[in-house]
Amino acid sequence: MKTIIANWKMNPATLKEALKLTHELSRKPRLSTVEVVVCPPFPYIEAISGHWPSFKTGAQDVFWETEGAYTGEVSPTMLKSMGVRRVLVGHSERRMFLGETDEMVNKKVRATLRTGLRVVLCVGEPKHVRREGIEAARAYVRAQLHSALKTLFPRSVTRRSLTIAYEPIWALSTSKNPRVDTPDDAAEMIQFIKHIVSKTLYKFTPEVLYGGSVNASNAANFLERPEIDGALVGGASLRAGEFQKIIDIAVRLGK
Ligand code: PGA
Repeated sequence: MKTIIANWKMNPATLKEALKLTHELSRKPRLSTVEVVVCPPFPYIEAISGHWPSFKTGAQDVFWETEGAYTGEVSPTMLKSMGVRRVLVGHSERRMFLGETDEMVNKKVRATLRTGLRVVLCVGEPKHVRREGIEAARAYVRAQLHSALKTLFPRSVTRRSLTIAYEPIWALSTSKNPRVDTPDDAAEMIQFIKHIVSKTLYKFTPEVLYGGSVNASNAANFLERPEIDGALVGGASLRAGEFQKIIDIAVRLGK
């Protein structure tokens, strides 16, 4: 079974538009052959959860403390109490625009797992690293995995609680980059991530999703690969018709 996660990022602009998108997407019944999770901006979570029996609700970020004087932050406990199931941690846009460090990512992973929520840990190399070649890209991703998952008791991490999203930064939010439509790089790195996690960190092979300009036209190229367990979809998840097509492709290829 494939997993499709929508990352709405800081979209749509108003609650009214978010509800419209929700209604469009929730016309289809819940499917047991694909797991669909939608990660809206925090202020829309309650409205989305209440209206959305066909999909699970996720969050785009989290803080590492349970409660306290941390202006503007949202705790894993709060998210759990609102019906959130999965939490994106370490997205490259947060690392890039908000100064999120490996240490912060590690704290967020630990706090999220402690609360019983499922982590979707985002990793991926920037363009200048990929230009140096596959070995440099691998070293970069391996270091991200090790620092995000360090000091976690192996027993507290299971295949169910930890998903990795491989999102090469050079492939995000673009339809221009021709490499995006060739899934070889993605499949190759995802295989490597599975190897690192199962051989050096834990005793299970994690679910690994691909993210980076996935849309209705290229989704099959990624999802037909057995090593790719699903997709983290940004821009295309904001168009109900297109997102539904990606879900249909995942159903077809996930059997
Ligand atoms: P994109 O975003 O599909 O718009 O490239 C994916 C992501 O950033 O999670």
